[in-house]
Amino acid sequence: MIRLGVNIDHVATVRQARMIDEPDPVWAVVLAELGGADQITIHLREDRRHIQDRDLVNVLEAAQVPVNLELAVTPEMVEIAADKRPHAVCMVPEKREEVTTEGGLDVIGNFDAVKAAAERLSDEGILVSLFVDPEVDQIEASLRAGAKAVELHTGAYAEKFGTKDANVELQRLITAAERAHEAGLQVHAGHGLNVRNLPPIVELPYLEELNIGHALIGRAIFIGLKAAVEEYKGIIARGGVTR
Ligand code: PXP
Repeated sequence: MIRLGVNIDHVATVRQARMIDEPDPVWAVVLAELGGADQITIHLREDRRHIQDRDLVNVLEAAQVPVNLELAVTPEMVEIAADKRPHAVCMVPEKREEVTTEGGLDVIGNFDAVKAAAERLSDEGILVSLFVDPEVDQIEASLRAGAKAVELHTGAYAEKFGTKDANVELQRLITAAERAHEAGLQVHAGHGLNVRNLPPIVELPYLEELNIGHALIGRAIFIGLKAAVEEYKGIIARGGVTR
């Protein structure tokens, strides 16, 4: 079954709004796991706007499922990951002024840095994934850079969901998933997914992993995190069939 990585950054976002010590992302680790999360995903941003360095340590300590660390391709971040050794690293583009990760990593344009980072982290036994737009060129570059997986950016699809252009974006994701699989890369996907737009994504060929944060945590505010994770797991288990 497709693995569900639960991105718990926004628990830290709420905490940082007050700069105090609650809510702690570790609480989210426990409840997400009770709800059936297959992975915990966190993004240690350069500006530390939500997850802090100590959260990475605490989450790695608390999690019984694999931890996926999203990070920018910078020497500082690569060294932190090499030192802390999460199960997986997903390299993402980062701009300080952005609200969230906008667009995939330009693997072609940053090839040498991405390749060096992928080598460094692979040497530590970390699974390296690259967050890319569903474009064949970027996928082929990801393979050459030494990635073992690509996380296909579903943001454009999510934005177009419910419009006549959604199918074009879905087709791009299907083609990208097929190409990545042919190249021997694991196929992951994420960004902007929610209970409404998720079912067609669950049907993507060769999809092994989803990483979902904002909408799931938003729902958890009202129904609880364990229930929210169970709900997403249910959509995955039903193979994308909408209720
Ligand atoms: N995957 C990656 C690589 C991301 O950067 C993010 C956002 O941090 C997500 C998945 C989750 O996106 P969302 O919060 O929109 O579900």
